[in-house]
Amino acid sequence: MRRRERSEMVKMTLLMMVVMMSSMLMTMVDSSRTVQRARDDSEILRRHLLANGLGVTPPMGWNSWNHFNCNINEKVIKETADALVTTGLSKLGYNYVNIDDCWAELARDKKGKLVPKKSTFPSGIKALADYVHSKGLKLGIYSDAGYLTCSKTMPGSLGYEEKDAKTFAEWGIDYLKYDNCNHDGSRPTVRYPVMTRALMKSGRPIFHSLCEWGDMHPALWGAPIGNSWRTTNDISDNWSSMISIADMNEIYAEHARPGGWNDPDMLEVGNGGMTKDEYIVHFSIWAISKAPLLLGCDIRNMNKETMEIVANKEVIAINQDPHGVQAKKARMEGDIQVWAGPLSGYRVALLLLNRGPKRSDIAAFWDDIEIPANSIVEARDLWEHKTLKQKFVGKLTATVDSHACKLYILKPVA
Ligand code: GAL
Repeated sequence: MRRRERSEMVKMTLLMMVVMMSSMLMTMVDSSRTVQRARDDSEILRRHLLANGLGVTPPMGWNSWNHFNCNINEKVIKETADALVTTGLSKLGYNYVNIDDCWAELARDKKGKLVPKKSTFPSGIKALADYVHSKGLKLGIYSDAGYLTCSKTMPGSLGYEEKDAKTFAEWGIDYLKYDNCNHDGSRPTVRYPVMTRALMKSGRPIFHSLCEWGDMHPALWGAPIGNSWRTTNDISDNWSSMISIADMNEIYAEHARPGGWNDPDMLEVGNGGMTKDEYIVHFSIWAISKAPLLLGCDIRNMNKETMEIVANKEVIAINQDPHGVQAKKARMEGDIQVWAGPLSGYRVALLLLNRGPKRSDIAAFWDDIEIPANSIVEARDLWEHKTLKQKFVGKLTATVDSHACKLYILKPVA
């Protein structure tokens, strides 16, 4: 080979190498772009997984479990819907009528569809939804991210998520409480998003309430998947259960926000296990914690005392405040606690809580509750229904009975 030819060949080889290398480089850039795109997609999916627009303020309504357990039927549900309207509670915002566990037959039908229990829901859930909707209310239902629900009397939705979400949407369901019993051992972070996607695919906006009991800290991962997430185990109708649940839920305060709320379980007010003052504490803490306000008593037979508590418009307004910030403990001294949280309009919700056995004075200092030091503050007592004549500077002190609280809205006036 002549020298010229040889040098031509070297040139060609070099050129081919450059072309190959640049194409390899392009492929690498491309694949890193693909990875980036996939990352972006999953980020979009993650953020919009639950783009149902629901839960802008905490949900309000009723749930069958705390009072009725498995003893439910369509008559109870319809009468409860009627009572929510006749008592005026629906006008105050209590508009979800939520059926809990035990509403379905143990066996699905031949097509794998859930079947409403014939002995208790003979007219079917669609008819019930139509009835509830005709009253201007919404219907909620219950299922489980496992093979059976917790009562083991009906199937869960694991493996049937799309079918069940479609069924719920067809029936006109507005809210799904999704429990965590009898599953395959996989993580809730794997099982719950499957239902979220199925609900989104169903095309009907359905509030998604994750009932994972706080086991794997759903406050840390619930927002893209659910509109609310239980932060604790089940409530019981007594002081120590209620107050310990309030404590557990408070830890996650920073994670609550419009569209996704910490859920310390349904209300027990009116079920008879606590004193009036204790129920006022229960309702006050749930309200300032931006918890779902789901009544758990028999709405058809509420006494005056229960009604006075759950129908307190000003306390409800704290819960539904557009700011959507969960109150936190601002100071604790033994059994004496100060809880506070910001409200819209530069106002502050303030709870003075006495968990001890004796009546005590409790002071809230501006410094602890994020009110500027020299502010002069007007205080509205939400359980006395009066604006106090005195204006407060630097602190507010009140005497609080044992197992009782004071709840104020503070408004700086100068
Ligand atoms: C529990 C749940 C309760 C209730 C019950 C029904 O897991 O926390 O709120 O739904 O199941 O069996």
